[in-house]
Amino acid sequence: SRILVLNGPNLNLLGTRQPEVYGGTTLKMIEDACQQHAQAAGAIVTCFQSNHEGALIDAIHAAKGTQDGIVLNAGAYTHTSVALMDAIASVELPVIEVHLSNIHARERFRHHSYIAPVAIGQICGFGALGYNLAIDALVGHFKERSK
Ligand code: DQA
Repeated sequence: SRILVLNGPNLNLLGTRQPEVYGGTTLKMIEDACQQHAQAAGAIVTCFQSNHEGALIDAIHAAKGTQDGIVLNAGAYTHTSVALMDAIASVELPVIEVHLSNIHARERFRHHSYIAPVAIGQICGFGALGYNLAIDALVGHFKERSK
């Protein structure tokens, strides 16, 4: 199976960005770990990051027919973007929502997610490990579905 690991705004700064909140792992390290983890699970990962809402929407549209599922950390667009929610609903691909931090233990404005209603589920609070958990969740979902 083919999995798109899609990261949104400011996640290119991981490693140096508020490490007390997001940890010291860089996006490159996370993406490399995803590649390795997916390979072991028999999946192929493609990674993309953008700070631009439209570029993320384009990536979701392009995933239709080329990917089997998406692991998405939409960053702050999680809390603001009806357009991202609509894009996910439009392509009908399974999406696992990921956040490094536990968004429910933070400011109120981070508690609401526009991604959650169109995702299979949400993994948050486990730092960089969350991406591997999300890959496992997606591969598990594919297996369940093919039964
Ligand atoms: C985040 C949580 C968001 O609230 C925040 O805007 C981010 C990162 C996370 O991974 O914990 O940019 O998605």
